[in-house]
Amino acid sequence: MEQTFIMIKPDGVQRGLVNPIPRLCKEPHLRACLNLAIGFCSALLEPSLIIVFVFTTSLLQIGDIISRFEKKGYYLKGMKFMNVEKSFAQQHYADLSAQPFFAKLVDYIISGPVVAMVWEGKDVVLTGRRIIGATRPWEAAPGTIRGDHAVEVSRNVIHGSDSVENGKKEIALWFPGGLAEWKSNLHPWIYE
Ligand code: TYD
Repeated sequence: MEQTFIMIKPDGVQRGLVNPIPRLCKEPHLRACLNLAIGFCSALLEPSLIIVFVFTTSLLQIGDIISRFEKKGYYLKGMKFMNVEKSFAQQHYADLSAQPFFAKLVDYIISGPVVAMVWEGKDVVLTGRRIIGATRPWEAAPGTIRGDHAVEVSRNVIHGSDSVENGKKEIALWFPGGLAEWKSNLHPWIYE
């Protein structure tokens, strides 16, 4: 079964932390009311604070991203929440070392923790890329992660292997200790 390496980048992780309400209040209806109240009050007090409202309503959380892959029918084989060393980020993006944005990209990847994952399933590399959306968020289709949650190419939330071969390389780099084993057979309602 095919495997792909998926990484939620520092912006994808931090966007869930912008607003403390989801951590303070677990009840979804109350949370929505609190978010609306904060947004409304900020807009009344100072119209430029409308940005707070935007953040509180368009909050992106790690779980939203993970559940897109889970709901599709893919199997989680590995997951780590970690900070990345500069040399490691340079190794991961070695193919792009000649690009003018390389240094900025590396600094950005090491700027905060990332979620590194391996997902497994039929055509997961190509389908994973389609779930993620195009590199440039303005070219990413609505409904994709980047299409729904990003505006800048340098803050495009998530990485996904672009070929089976690169997937293997990236998985070996990020998960040198191997992956988890599923004990049960694949679900018969997902795979024939
Ligand atoms: P790339 O491998 O081309 O895209 P993808 O992540 O979709 O496989 O580029 C790697 C990352 O480099 C990309 O996700 C964001 C960053 N990047 C820039 O910062 N500026 C750019 O002009 C490009 C093309 C990419």
